[in-house]
Amino acid sequence: MTLLVTGGAGFIGSNFVLDWLATPETAGEPVVNLDALTYAGNRDNLATLEGDARHVFVHGDITDRALVDRLLAEHRPRAIVHFAAESHVDRSIHGPGAFIRTNVQGTFTLLEAARAHWSTLQGPAREAFRFHHVSTDEVYGSLGPSDPAFTEDHPYQPNSPYSASKAASDHLVRAWHHTYGLPVTATNCSNNYGPWHFPEKLIPLMIVNALAGKPLPVYGDGQQVRDWLYVGDHCSAIRAVLARGRVGETYNVGGWNEKPNMEIVHTVCRLLDELRPDPAGPHARLITHVKDRPGHDRRYAIDARKIERELGWRPAETFDTGIRKTVQWVLDHGDWIARVQSGAYREWVSANYAAR
Ligand code: NAD
Ligand code: DAU
Repeated sequence: MTLLVTGGAGFIGSNFVLDWLATPETAGEPVVNLDALTYAGNRDNLATLEGDARHVFVHGDITDRALVDRLLAEHRPRAIVHFAAESHVDRSIHGPGAFIRTNVQGTFTLLEAARAHWSTLQGPAREAFRFHHVSTDEVYGSLGPSDPAFTEDHPYQPNSPYSASKAASDHLVRAWHHTYGLPVTATNCSNNYGPWHFPEKLIPLMIVNALAGKPLPVYGDGQQVRDWLYVGDHCSAIRAVLARGRVGETYNVGGWNEKPNMEIVHTVCRLLDELRPDPAGPHARLITHVKDRPGHDRRYAIDARKIERELGWRPAETFDTGIRKTVQWVLDHGDWIARVQSGAYREWVSANYAAR
């Protein structure tokens, strides 16, 4: 048995591959990892798997149908776990084209290749085959302060080019199940944080800027709410869905950790004051309110009761334990942080923040 993982050199994908090959129940099942190594993909994340025969890395694009066909024929995976995407909302505002290409066209290509492959399977192999699609709570739109959290039945109301492209991919996955019977499962999850998080997203950006004595750019009033999920908990949720999830079903995955951005930034500052005090003063002095994100969703919150009820999954980390581990991880991986802050990263920072 083998898994084909897409986007396994990115933040969540690399955590998933590392967890999969370290978890006793799954460690014996090899992973073929297809990743285009965009700015967000980094083979350093997988350095501990160098020379490990259970991990086959393939540098390639999910829109390349011939390549995907070849990988399916050669490795005959029992499941595809699809993480590959353009994932940053701000980048989707600056340049939506790549989001349509990878998130929509790429998912379509994978679905078609999976359908062709699945049609050749028989008996237990056909029964066992799964296409697992990793998606986001952002497809559901924005909540008011007292609205109930997103359930799996919440209407789709994507607001950004990123969330619209993910919503389109979700619809394709649903249709390929409904029309062709492809055995799919899906997870829609909230904001992840943890090791290997690229420092363009809120939490790692605030940590690396604070360590460098740079401004901490809070969009608008900073009262937007996100539901934070430690990445290791996301990985265990996907493992649970692969093992026991019902075909055709979506499971919402969240951390039961709704917090406004300002609280997140102050928590990061307090932890850094404790773990790496700055002689110039408390890190919170660096907080700077900047121009808001266009179309900024105000609040996301996940109702994760279905996955708990059906699959017995609950997050293991609280926000206090997860954020402490995350800050400590960044402090321990200064070399990784320095490497990913390349020229292209600096160009992005300038494009996104200079005019704010
Ligand atoms: P990421 O941006 O860190 O990584 C994406 C990975 O996909 C990178 O390794 C990149 O090289 C690869 N990739 C991009 N385009 C590709 C292509 N055309 N072909 C092959 N590989 C390609 O993303 P992430 O934060 O790890 O997110 C992974 C998945 O989880 C995405 O589908 C995202 O929508 C979803 N998600 C993320 C979060 C979050 O908080 N980060 C929350 C909910 C859902
Ligand atoms: O909800 C799940 C989604 O979470 C995923 O689908 C996306 O892939 C992932 O990027 C994330 O999207 P967000 O837009 O919520 O994450 P981000 O870290 O970019 O921003 C989190 C919040 O912090 C959001 O309200 C915007 C704000 N923010 C972000 C940045 C980068 C700031 O205030 N300042 C910043 O510099």
